[in-house]
Amino acid sequence: MKTDTDIRDNRAGEGVAQGPRHVAIIMDGNGRWAQARGRPRLFGHHAGARRVREVVECCPGLGIRYLTIFAFSTENWKRTQTEVAGLMSLFRRYISKEMKALAAKNVRVRFIGDRVRLDRKLIDLMDALELETEENTGTQLTIALNYGGRDEVARATKRLARDVSDGKLDPADVDEETLPKYLDTCVLPDPDLVVRTSGEARISNFLLWQSAYAEYEFIDTLWPDFTAKELEILCQNYGARDRRFGTVKT
Ligand code: FPP
Repeated sequence: MKTDTDIRDNRAGEGVAQGPRHVAIIMDGNGRWAQARGRPRLFGHHAGARRVREVVECCPGLGIRYLTIFAFSTENWKRTQTEVAGLMSLFRRYISKEMKALAAKNVRVRFIGDRVRLDRKLIDLMDALELETEENTGTQLTIALNYGGRDEVARATKRLARDVSDGKLDPADVDEETLPKYLDTCVLPDPDLVVRTSGEARISNFLLWQSAYAEYEFIDTLWPDFTAKELEILCQNYGARDRRFGTVKT
């Protein structure tokens, strides 16, 4: 993957007293939202997909340059066949439908996660959307699809080991700067703020390496009810936090 020097600039001290540049969201609660309305879980996922547009659109106004959203985890395959098939169909539909709108809004879309288990049609749509938006300079939207943090680190390690065995990398040179170059997120800065909706306070295998120094917000709102206004408040809260990255104030 191409590296982008513009965006590998997440360094200690940045982001203090200002909003987050990179927000990552675990969009949870679609099922409960639907259940509360006596509707099937997929109804909640469709409502959740509609929320994505509002959130993407509010990013420039909030100073958010990178938005990463967790759409489907490596563990989500364990759901019923109906739900998994419904989600895959929703992703295909979302990409086809939103392609023009995202491109017109200067949004650049990337996908992270392992594509091997995804169907050919979905992979082709993902490739097309990445290609269609690759010159866009606005919000950098990353969609995690069949993504798991541990799986990502394992795949990265496999690639790194291959480079070692091919003589392209000296094991003595492997350090904290080397490994992230093999991650799916190699061109992205680390998230400043990770948000999880729906009241669950866990990170569920999302951006494990990248979130080492992220600030977290666990909020009760179910994802289909999440609004731009709420994100604005979370960004303000973030601005008031004191990020020290292990250092002390002098
Ligand atoms: C978690 O809610 C949500 C998911 C597993 C799917 C996330 C997908 C979307 C928000 C919609 C589509 C996104 C895109 C990018 C088109 P849950 O089902 O676990 O809810 P629950 O905890 O209430 O059961």
